[in-house]
Amino acid sequence: MDLRTAGSVLVVFLWSVAGVLGQNTVKSVCALKGSSVDMRCPVPSVTQVTEIVWFNTWLNPYDLRWDPKYDGRVEYSGTTEKDCILRITDLRQSDITTYHFRYKTNQYSEWKYSYGFTLSLTDLKVERIYDNTLTCSTTCTLTGNPTYIWYKNGQRLDESTSPQYKYSVSSNYDNSYSCAVKGHEDLHSPAVCVQGHNCWRVTYTKRRICVLKGSTVNISCSYTHPTSYIEQGSFWFTQKHPVDVRSYPEYTGRVEYNRNTENHHTMTITHLTEKDSAEYIFRLITTKEGRFSGLPGLMLTVTDILLEMDPTSVSEGERVTLRCRTQCTVGLNPTYIWYKNRQSLTNPVTSYNSLILDPVTSYNSLILDPVSSEDAGNYSCAVEGLERILSPEETLTVRCEYMEC
Ligand SMILES: *[C@@H]1O[C@H](CO)[C@@H](O)[C@H](O)[C@H]1NC(C)=O
Ligand SMILES: *[C@@H]1O[C@H](CO)[C@@H](O)[C@H](O)[C@H]1NC(C)=O
Repeated sequence: MDLRTAGSVLVVFLWSVAGVLGQNTVKSVCALKGSSVDMRCPVPSVTQVTEIVWFNTWLNPYDLRWDPKYDGRVEYSGTTEKDCILRITDLRQSDITTYHFRYKTNQYSEWKYSYGFTLSLTDLKVERIYDNTLTCSTTCTLTGNPTYIWYKNGQRLDESTSPQYKYSVSSNYDNSYSCAVKGHEDLHSPAVCVQGHNCWRVTYTKRRICVLKGSTVNISCSYTHPTSYIEQGSFWFTQKHPVDVRSYPEYTGRVEYNRNTENHHTMTITHLTEKDSAEYIFRLITTKEGRFSGLPGLMLTVTDILLEMDPTSVSEGERVTLRCRTQCTVGLNPTYIWYKNRQSLTNPVTSYNSLILDPVTSYNSLILDPVSSEDAGNYSCAVEGLERILSPEETLTVRCEYMEC
């Protein structure tokens, strides 16, 4: 769309919004950072919805699915009142805003605008509210009456609908506590000591990590233990084999430990494969037969890089969209690089007339418009900084419809 058309769309749009804003109300939604949220379209059930667009700014009411900020994290399901849902996954700070939607029905051809949802996000934090009572605190009230789960020294305790937990005062002051919400146990709060700073506690630097197949990852944690116990060793394990990962045959030569800093441990895994995706748990061994596992552990996801081409066979003058994808993005924040016949397209706009980086989604999609016969070839993509890990190639075929080509 060129600027002139964009301008007139905007004017028409604002004009039509003015009439509906007054009747709209906004609902609040509060979710955990890193989790996902469903927002349900409040469409009258008597009409049949034919088209829905969710957006988050009145100035730019375009489909969220085209916004690179939400790449791969936005999903619509259904177009009926019952299951018209916007789902945003892997929620992050930059998603905090108000979401609106517009829709068309089989009765009117014009867009109708409906009220939105204001999204707030929170982390979980354990706080002591009375002498023997802890609370799992949030900065907004979580939507959907969550069930809380408490962990004592990494061991799961009972579930409760109340965010509060009473611990026994006579109990050992070496205990640490953390809390989670059912269904999102990996997003548990950091563990806190009920007294002092030297209880049994492991804190992972990150709780979820996404990395590319073939690359290297460092996973680390810091830990404390009661001063009456002296550290004798430590190792990482997964639930599948609860022994030191260095003894698993599939990790031979790929795992290294690093204990350079006191109370801090790093494990490096090289040449990652999808089979390395797992929950990794740190275990501390001390004198007096003290052993402590930092549960829940750290989730590592190893992803492939894939190129999608749509369509793969075109006539000259048509348009092709290429998208580069990974199955997870947490911590990856990728910038993609494109290749044609193994040559990188470093300065696409000047070297290729027909190659336009889409202004909206430039970072993960490449648009060839209009396609010429020279664009035919094998395309692949990579993540900047990890250029040696290429996606599988996709072949673009350009059909000739003129005698000259
Ligand atoms: C992992 O840690 C080592 C040592 O601190 C560092 O040299 C290396 O760059 C790190 N690798 C990654 C992928 O972060
Ligand atoms: C593209 O890939 C196909 C199949 O892998 C191969 O036959 C063809 O020669 C490649 N084309 C170019 C231009 O590299």
